[in-house]
Amino acid sequence: MSKKKRIGILTSGGDCPGLNAIIRSVVKYANMRQWEIYGIPRGTDGFIDVVKGKLQVEDLKLHPHGYDVPGVLQGLDVLQFMSGSVLGSLSRGNPAEEDVTKDILEGYSRFGLDALIAIGGDGSLDIIYDLAKKGGWNLVVIPKTIDNDVAFTERSVGFDTARNTVTQALYDLTFTAASHERIMVVQVMGRDAGHLALHSGIAGGADCILVPELTPKLTDATIEGICKYIAKLRRDRRKFALVVIAEGVHGLNNQKDPYIAETLAELITDYSHRLCDGNNNYDGLDTIDTRATVLGHLQRCGVPSSFDRILATVFGIKALDLIEQECYNRLVVWQNGSVESKSLEQIMPMIKWCHQEKTCPAPVDPEGFMVRTALSLGIYLGESHYHPHAINE
Ligand code: F6P
Repeated sequence: MSKKKRIGILTSGGDCPGLNAIIRSVVKYANMRQWEIYGIPRGTDGFIDVVKGKLQVEDLKLHPHGYDVPGVLQGLDVLQFMSGSVLGSLSRGNPAEEDVTKDILEGYSRFGLDALIAIGGDGSLDIIYDLAKKGGWNLVVIPKTIDNDVAFTERSVGFDTARNTVTQALYDLTFTAASHERIMVVQVMGRDAGHLALHSGIAGGADCILVPELTPKLTDATIEGICKYIAKLRRDRRKFALVVIAEGVHGLNNQKDPYIAETLAELITDYSHRLCDGNNNYDGLDTIDTRATVLGHLQRCGVPSSFDRILATVFGIKALDLIEQECYNRLVVWQNGSVESKSLEQIMPMIKWCHQEKTCPAPVDPEGFMVRTALSLGIYLGESHYHPHAINE
């Protein structure tokens, strides 16, 4: 049997479904090897709390039966079903102040860990990598985010569940939209990337999908394109429409707009009313009625999908296998339907360069198959990817 190891685990950045399933798999597999797992509360803040004496290291040991439920459900392993993070998470940005970094490094050393498993998204990866370098930590990172924008992995934990949540919301909104012949503008999360909007827009039957990679900001041409597309739908019998907009799309003034769906709904109403003035081609647009829905943090909730649970579990096991092989400073990734890992040394320069340039390290590929699929269905994706047959006046 391999040497007994002492491993820390933390969740960092915005929560998402599947975090607890990762923790569960790590604790179960570690228990089989008689390794010890320590759960660091609230991301790297847990290290600071240890230094400040608010937490005691030995109280933070995770046990495979630490989350049992009472009564006849005793023994049920609930962690795999629950979203959120039992450890708590932190999405406050970089601990830039020197004294915080010092406390984090000091706190880490008090655990006497052989390795740390950090579960995080694109931003956390950057921050924790730097901390690990400073502290000489043996780091393994597991990617999670509903945005699916961690570079070098095809999938991050949480994306699939969020995609199902948004798809279901679009399905639900279809019927109220149809009943009132309304245009529903739906705002979907994705700080810098449009994967969630694009995937769920296709699965949920959206008519228009705006993502930052193709429509960085709203323009008069985009509004006109949407209105003309809606006019065409109405001539073709569909009196309602679903317009999906990713939150990363900026407003007309190129500013970030936390209520971009409401802005777009108003712009569509105004423009369509103007468009139809005396123009038979746009008949009916004068009565167009729009409503905006911001799906918000509901997209980070829900029972993790089976794919997310499997991904979470496979990633957790892989992280421990890497630690057993003393193969450190790796990002666990999903590639071609299997689990692999990448050297952080090799991938971080590219990721850091993207952060410096304020570009997304893993954006939607404008020439990729998902964009082509949407276009082939006639979905309006903005002026840059306008399909000649979709807007046929
Ligand atoms: O990165 C994940 C994400 O859910 C984004 O889609 C969203 O912009 C952001 O987190 C919201 O974060 P917060 O928890 O700070 O509201």
